Formats: sequence, structure tokens, C-alpha cells
Amino acid sequence: MSNVRRIFVIGAGTMGHGIAEVAALRGLNVTLYDVKQEFLDGAMSKIKWSLDRLAEKGTIKSSSEVIQRIATTLDLESGASDADFVIEAAPERMEIKRDIFSRLDRSARPEAVLATNTSSLPITEVSESVSAPRRGRVIGMHFFNPPVIMQLVEVVKGKYTSDETVKATYELAGALGKQPVLVRVDVPGFIVNRVMARFLNTACLMAERGLHRMEEIDAAVRYGLGMPMGAFELSDYIGIDVLDDIIKAMIARGFSMTPCGLYSGMRSAGKLGVKSGQGFYAHPGSKFRKPELDRSLAAKVDPILLVAPAVNEAAYLLREEVASRDDIDKAVRLGLNYPKGIFEYADSYGVDSVIDALRRLEEALGSREYEPDPLLLEMRSAGKLGVKSGQGFYAYKRRGE
Ligand code: 3HC
Repeated sequence: MSNVRRIFVIGAGTMGHGIAEVAALRGLNVTLYDVKQEFLDGAMSKIKWSLDRLAEKGTIKSSSEVIQRIATTLDLESGASDADFVIEAAPERMEIKRDIFSRLDRSARPEAVLATNTSSLPITEVSESVSAPRRGRVIGMHFFNPPVIMQLVEVVKGKYTSDETVKATYELAGALGKQPVLVRVDVPGFIVNRVMARFLNTACLMAERGLHRMEEIDAAVRYGLGMPMGAFELSDYIGIDVLDDIIKAMIARGFSMTPCGLYSGMRSAGKLGVKSGQGFYAHPGSKFRKPELDRSLAAKVDPILLVAPAVNEAAYLLREEVASRDDIDKAVRLGLNYPKGIFEYADSYGVDSVIDALRRLEEALGSREYEPDPLLLEMRSAGKLGVKSGQGFYAYKRRGE
């Protein structure tokens, strides 16, 4: 049971306004802050649009009852002063986060939890902008887009984060109707964005190098793998600039990846995805339009080539004890709405086939990041191949057992 009554959300962009909406939907009082009135006004009209959808479906009685729980402010200090829990969702730049957290240090109540919704910056570094006694109260609380629909919250422990803060954040996630997973080590991109980046970047490299057309890849992702959005469709939905920033931030902190050149090229050309009306696909009026994809295109791409890099990353996270097997699978099911966990995909294809796919990618794309993780190689040597051998990441009963 969470003791949080008032939440202060910093940043009224896509994630900030979504988080404010979720909290208000769950009966909490919210103050939403941004630096310009027009950002706050834009956020409130998007919240209203989303709440109206929920009211039409009968999920809530009326949008106005929920909206009245959200106050807006241009004054960070006063917004912070009466909050039990602060969630910062400002732009992904360390100097901005540092400024915000040092101001929170002076204005928030000593017992308030200070969470950042950063997707790729280190929690430890953010916490170093508050005074030493407060650092235990700083934590990562990473939501997924759209926050009102996506069930997952990654709870990320920094070097200083106390167990009490983790507990309070888990409790708040539960009160918000979300399912938390624990990221024990503050690695760049945590669980979901690392796994997702491997998958999206591989799809993008395949298109860039002319191995497949994007429509073929997206059809394979949707119809072959059963994922809710194709790789290019999802990239447009997230925002090409956001994706580019996430990948660059992770690479700057040691994540080994050859970034697909299409992202930076599109970014310079202002093709940012849904928000700019054009990304890989056209989205007239900056409204998301689901691309129509012919089912027959799916057969042109071997889907294991898209899944294998994501499995490889997940194997790294498991081997390094960043998160548990179950939390990694839960994270991709609820953070990306995959129909099954990434280890479940691995077990159904077979660990040996995943390794083989990584070798094929290494040859086709010439990137070192496709080197199979030692955990996969060890599993193959031990005969732990997945469903076909009865044991992989999970145990399976074979017929007759
Ligand atoms: N508010 C209220 N309702 C919404 C909504 C919102 N913001 N967005 C969608 N909906 C509703 C729609 O109205 C629709 O309702 P209906 O079924 O009653 O008509 C329902 O949700 C389904 O929406 P659509 O029919 O428009 O489209 P889909 O069936 O494709 O579902 C989706 C949309 C849930 C977004 C699905 O496509 C999906 O799961 N996509 C993957 C999203 C994903 O991977 N997100 C994570 C990205 S990574 C991230 O956020 C991390 C960050 O750090 C970058």
C-alpha cells in the first residue's frame, strides 16, 4: 500500500503528461510542471483526448473528474514543496537533469522520493546532483509509451538508492496499476531499451544495406513474430530523435553497436516519425497511422535474424545479473507488448539456431556486436537448446514424460 498522495511530475512531454494522467486516473493528486505555459496547455489537451477515449469505452465515468486532480505550474520549487513523490520526465540531457535535481534538493521534502524517468542516463550520476543525505532517495522509474496503456515500469537502483526507496517505488508502481521489474545494476538502457535497440538497429541496418525492404521486415515482425508493431513502425512511434538519442547515450557509455545511419540522416532531414508527420512512414497531421502491410511480404525475411540480437542482449543481462530471467521476460512482454518473453522466443527457436543466426548477421552486416554471448555458447555446449531438448532458459516436459 503506497503512502503517496501527491505526485509532482516534471516535464509535460509525451512521457510526463502520460504519467500525470495515469496517476490522476488512480486517484492521486498531481502537479505537472513545465517551463512554458503552451507546453502545459498542449499536455492537458492530450490528456483530455486520451481520457475521452477511456470514457467512450466506459473505463472511466468522465474525463473531467480525473482532470480536476491535475494542477499545472511553471514554478518548480513550489510544485516540489508539497509532493510525496517526484517523477522527472524532462528532456534526456544530463545538464538539464542535474539542474532539476539540485533544485529539488533545495525545495522537496526530505522524505520525498526523487525518481527520474530517464531511459538511458545513469541514475547514479543523476543522484550525485543532490546532497549526500538525499542520494538514497533517488531512483529510476522508467515508464513506457503510451504510459496509460503500457503495463511495465522498470525500477532502477543507482549506486546510492536505498532498499526503502525501492520498496516505496514498487508500492507506487502497484498503486498506479503498473507491474514493476527490478533493474539491479545501473546499465545504460536498463532492460527494455537495450533489447529493443538491438532489434530495431538490426532491422534498420538490414534495410540500409539493402538486404530487405522495410515493409518486408515490418510484415515479418508483425505477422511472423506476432509483435504489435513492425520495427520501423515502432521507431516512428517512439520518435527517430528519441531513438537516436537513446542509442548515442548508450554507446557513449560503452554499449557496443554500429548505429544505423538512417536514424541520424532522417533526424537531420526533420523526419522524426509520428510527431513530424513523416518518418519511415507518413503520418498525416502528425497522427499515428498504422502502415498497411501485405501479409505475403512476411515470408521474405527469416524472423530469427531479428530476434537473435535481442536474445543475445537479454543473455548478457542475465549473465551479468542485471535482472532475473523472469523480470527480463516480463519486461519485454509488458514494456513492448511482445506476445511472449525474449527467452521464450529463444527456447522455441532453439539456442543453437539463435547462435547460427547471430553468425549469419555477423557475416552479412560485419558488426562485432553479433558475437554470441558466452551464456548462449555455454548453453549450447551443455545441450540446453530450449523446447527441443527439454531444457533451455526454461524447463519443458517432453512427450511421454
Ligand atoms: N490513451 C488512451 N487510449 C489509447 C491510447 C492513449 N494514449 N493509445 C492507444 N489507445 C487505445 C486506442 O484508442 C485503442 O482502443 P480501442 O481498442 O478501444 O479502439 C487501443 O488503445 C488500441 O490502439 P490502436 O487500435 O490505435 O492500435 P494498436 O492495437 O496497435 O495498439 C499500442 C496500440 C498499444 C500502442 C500497440 O501498438 C503496442 O503495444 N505497440 C508497442 C508499443 C511499445 O512498444 N511501446 C514501448 C516503446 S519503448 C519506450 O516507450 C521506452 C522509451 O524510453 C522510449
